[in-house]
Amino acid sequence: MCGIVAYIGPREAYPIVLKGLKRLEYRGYDSSGVALLNKGLKVYKKKGKVAELEDSLIGKDLHANTGMGHTRWATHGEPSDRNAHPHTSANGKLAMIHNGIIENYTQLKQELTKKGYKFHSDTDTEVLLNFIQDIQEHNECGLEEALRIALKRVVGAYVIILLDHDNPDTIIAARKGSPLVIGVGKGEHFLASDASPIIEYTKEVVYVNDYELAIIKADELVLKNLGNEKLTPFIQKLDLELAAIEKGGYDHFMLKEIFEQPATIFDCLRGRLDVAAGTITMAGVQKNIEKLTSANRIVMVACGTSWHAGLVAEYVFEELCRIPVEVEYASEFRYRNPVVREGDVIFAISQSGETADTIVAIEKAKENGAFIFGVVNVVGSSIARVSHAGAYTHAGPEIGVASTKAFTAQLAVLIMIALKIAWEKGTIDQQRYNHLLQELHEIPEKVAEALRHDDEIKRIANKYKDAQDFLYLGRGYNFPIALEGALKMKEISYIHAEGYPAAEMKHGPIALVDKDLPVVFVATKDSYHEKIISNIQEIKARKGMVLAVISEGDETITGMADDIMIVPEADELVAPLLSVIPMQLLSYHVGIAKNLDVDKPRNLAKSVTVE
Ligand code: G6P
Repeated sequence: MCGIVAYIGPREAYPIVLKGLKRLEYRGYDSSGVALLNKGLKVYKKKGKVAELEDSLIGKDLHANTGMGHTRWATHGEPSDRNAHPHTSANGKLAMIHNGIIENYTQLKQELTKKGYKFHSDTDTEVLLNFIQDIQEHNECGLEEALRIALKRVVGAYVIILLDHDNPDTIIAARKGSPLVIGVGKGEHFLASDASPIIEYTKEVVYVNDYELAIIKADELVLKNLGNEKLTPFIQKLDLELAAIEKGGYDHFMLKEIFEQPATIFDCLRGRLDVAAGTITMAGVQKNIEKLTSANRIVMVACGTSWHAGLVAEYVFEELCRIPVEVEYASEFRYRNPVVREGDVIFAISQSGETADTIVAIEKAKENGAFIFGVVNVVGSSIARVSHAGAYTHAGPEIGVASTKAFTAQLAVLIMIALKIAWEKGTIDQQRYNHLLQELHEIPEKVAEALRHDDEIKRIANKYKDAQDFLYLGRGYNFPIALEGALKMKEISYIHAEGYPAAEMKHGPIALVDKDLPVVFVATKDSYHEKIISNIQEIKARKGMVLAVISEGDETITGMADDIMIVPEADELVAPLLSVIPMQLLSYHVGIAKNLDVDKPRNLAKSVTVE
């Protein structure tokens, strides 16, 4: 969370920084700001989205060849002009942007206050900046040396970028725990939280590692560790096209990403699943097959939507591989001293690969001897690097804050891994194995079919858009989809929504049911079908409104429900890949009907790099 971008080179910095901020806005949009270094240091910042900053700068002199910008997701201090980044040091010479949290900032602030420093914001960032200034003055050293000393005292996570009035031809950056990519151009450099602001200028990038400092001039990139030793930058080629991060004719990224799913799932299966040969080829799985098949237990660790993918995977792995599975919120797992031993396999599931809680959870599990397998979308991200092995989901950049295509790609990868382990372990017979390979193979086309019902779902969304609450119910493989449907509705439409196992509903939520409560049943044809039909009747008997996700041709539920959302029939094990599609579309259309910013829902950020 928080997006940072910077440029140094012969071009005008401001347009590059501004465009970069717009691309990174998914990371936070409480406020934004830019610092430009020309003859002097100019800082402009504004509460609200990047467009508001842009409007406020019309007519200003923005000429500079060095500049940086920040789009904020507030942690310390409310969203406001004064808490917006960049911050300026007390002597006015340094400007800094920061993504992360300085955990010991209170102590540092007290020390600085005693020395007479005054603060103009509530942020931890301003504290760190003045701490750096103080070291610089006290030690009579340059900014680079002062930063190195400061970072040795800092507890927390950061990417910081510094501009120095006295050194206009240099940008200094440092990273620990939050992402930083440097684009290497001809006589110019670009810095950003991810590659999206960079790709139209250069495809050569360096991913900065934790505890590294970058000293960047237009034509020079020097990487050092905190011990002041020079490191050789590892330049990688970006495998990303500009079109992948643009809306491509859709009104919103969320809608584009929902409709991309036939292609993204296909990409995810491509080269891995071979129905004719009866094989699944995944290098990370194959190389570690011993570890995976002999696992004592599997723990799925994740947050948000990725946690829901972990829940589906629990059902799949237990069914196919006969290995006990637990699913953990990374934020709980990391703090509660869990029992983790050698022989445990931890699956870290993450779209961004940068979720702070997930990173720390797997680092701890790793220390205790567990084997870490990453299921990650962003190539080269922190979780991909911390994991012992992994499989990328290949969903392409996901920009809409609410996760859609990354989720279905996670499911596809996890199901393939489970099938591979089950086959190697001998816990699945040939017929079922071949059947499930075929079922997975058919999923992209079936998702396309499910998407053809978009207009119908839009009509349903308009009918229920004014509801105060929604209840989502499902059983078995579809229970996690009920949770995911409720999460999507909350995120995108700001309507309170609760997901529950359909049978458990009788132990509480049924008290909420009346004629005004829409109850969404995720009720595709599976081994629980008769049971869920009884649950639907229980709701109807209490005058609740029933919206049901059903398999094509399900006359029974069609006759009972107020509204139906149809998906093609599929084996229950792969059905979540289909039943989630109407859930995504429903929340999208309710959000649109309520005139909300579906790509940037309030208070949320896509990549949660703070605890
Ligand atoms: C945030 C996003 C969610 C996402 C979650 C986990 O809350 O808004 O869409 O599911 O983080 O992120 P990850 O990148 O680890 O999957």
